[in-house]
Amino acid sequence: MTAEEAHMAPPESKGHLSVARVKKGWHVACRSDQLGEDPVARTVLGWPLALYREPERGGVGAVLDRCPHRNVRLSKGAVDQDDCLVCPYHGWRFDSEGSCRGIPGLLQGQSETVSKRSIPALAAVEQDGFIWVWGDAESEPVGRPLRIPFVDDPDYVAIHREYLFECTLHAALENALDVPHTSFVHRGDFRGQAARHEIVAERRRIPDGIEVEYMGEPPLSGPTHSPDGSPIVQRHWDRFFMPGIAQVEYRTGADRHQITTFPHTPVSDFQTRGFLVSCWRLPDQNPEVIRTLEGFLDEILAQDVAILADQTANVLRFGGEAYGSTALDLMGPEIWRMLRRAEQGLDPNSAAIEQRVRLSV
Ligand code: FES
Ligand SMILES: [Fe+2]
Repeated sequence: MTAEEAHMAPPESKGHLSVARVKKGWHVACRSDQLGEDPVARTVLGWPLALYREPERGGVGAVLDRCPHRNVRLSKGAVDQDDCLVCPYHGWRFDSEGSCRGIPGLLQGQSETVSKRSIPALAAVEQDGFIWVWGDAESEPVGRPLRIPFVDDPDYVAIHREYLFECTLHAALENALDVPHTSFVHRGDFRGQAARHEIVAERRRIPDGIEVEYMGEPPLSGPTHSPDGSPIVQRHWDRFFMPGIAQVEYRTGADRHQITTFPHTPVSDFQTRGFLVSCWRLPDQNPEVIRTLEGFLDEILAQDVAILADQTANVLRFGGEAYGSTALDLMGPEIWRMLRRAEQGLDPNSAAIEQRVRLSV
């Protein structure tokens, strides 16, 4: 390196990247309506998977998308009457535990080798319109995936969306649960237009997660006062649930309620897929109102996709992160601590996180 080049090095970063691979947890692999009779390919935590439905048992299989014979993609195969996934090359058959159940052409006496040709398989369940996989082939699942509240409630409209973020799981989760950026990235869409308000935020531990409650903010949309002149109270909670679910809930007055549950799946270290389910109970649920809401969500999320891709590119350009947090960063550092501890096999719920801060939004 010449003396000139030494002066051209970028400023130092910590060389740290907020990448945590939490395998022991339920991750959404795809939506239920994306999995028909044919297998589909999806990647979760860097693992290429072949997902398929079992026509007989009615379950779902999730196996490594690589035939142990000659490495063809099993997701390009088909499912037979015995709930086995059949490789498209020589027809080896696998069940959803990953056990090889048949090799066409092998004669009796040669078949003892069949059972040894198994493939890694992940536990998979279907719930609330999603196919969830347990991210670790070596361990038994603990519990069930988090339920998506109100998704099947007839009094609610459920809006489903899927987004691909070019960023870490942690960056996507922080963004989904970060209030201060809304006044800038989404300026005028739901904050940042009117005068700022001073509000109070309380952070607390919830089972396998974190909740922040925001108090004192006027309603983000619609009337701010009742006909009798009294102010309409808005309640707002942001929640994180391990290993990748963000949830945002608003209750405004007596008749408006919205809760958005947003599972995030790490496809790879710097690519995260978000499956948004936004459930709304409104005084007026006509199709025009719903179309407006869909357009609103798409606009907001497109802005988040763009800022997150730019953040990732810049972190990588500098060779790592050099983050500086303040009291306003209520979620991100604690989410990171939980993800990191879970990745290390430690209890993610151990730290005391209770905090009350005043902020202006
Ligand atoms: S490659 Fe799958 S059976 Fe040969
Ligand atoms: Fe955002």
